[in-house]
Amino acid sequence: MTPYDEVASLYAELFSDMLDTRPLERAMLAAFAELTTGPVADLGCGPGHLTAHLRSLGLDVFGLDLSPAMIALAREAHPDLRFEEGSMTALDLEDEALGGILAFYSVIHMPPHELPAVFAEFFRVLAPGGHLMLGFFAGDDPEPQEFDHKVTLAYRWSPSGLMDLLKQAGFAEVGRLVREPVDGERFLQAQVLVRKS
Ligand SMILES: C[S@@+](CC[C@H](N)C(=O)[O-])C[C@H]1O[C@@H](n2cnc3c(N)ncnc32)[C@H](O)[C@@H]1O
Repeated sequence: MTPYDEVASLYAELFSDMLDTRPLERAMLAAFAELTTGPVADLGCGPGHLTAHLRSLGLDVFGLDLSPAMIALAREAHPDLRFEEGSMTALDLEDEALGGILAFYSVIHMPPHELPAVFAEFFRVLAPGGHLMLGFFAGDDPEPQEFDHKVTLAYRWSPSGLMDLLKQAGFAEVGRLVREPVDGERFLQAQVLVRKS
């Protein structure tokens, strides 16, 4: 049982239509889609709404999540797409197998000391020129801050702090977006886009 299994249905109910009211997220996802060729993995895909959005933008995409309940909901909502159970920490993929990775609000649950190994894994499976996009809760503190996430342990990162880690893993920055909270959100929201050179 993973932390998201118990809340999977509620999560899907609350967030599956989230992109409808998030023009800035849609803009970054559109940029990611335009820059990306080849297979794409949506890591920590939850109920699969972003996987489906990337497919609608023309990408050859599949979703992967640690939570069996999330994967069951994703398969039910999007029977035409591929979803797999698994962990982003150990991907069952050959080196350089992917053209792109989306990890939207999923690396937020990694303890900070484990993130370098996760980014090394992302770097391994991306082909040269491949893109990685992360979505996360942002803050100004230079160090990651643990906060009282409703489901399980989670961290806020400064965009610069997370970008430094990505650069240490070998990625080059393409761009970043930080927006103000809306609709009862508590924190700044950020996306960073990087490339494996
Ligand atoms: C906040 S939800 C984000 C879901 C979706 N990406 C979105 O933006 O709505 C975090 C998801 O990451 C998944 N997750 C957490 N740790 C993971 C891991 N090590 N590997 C794969 N998925 C993981 C959880 O099961 C959960 O579905």
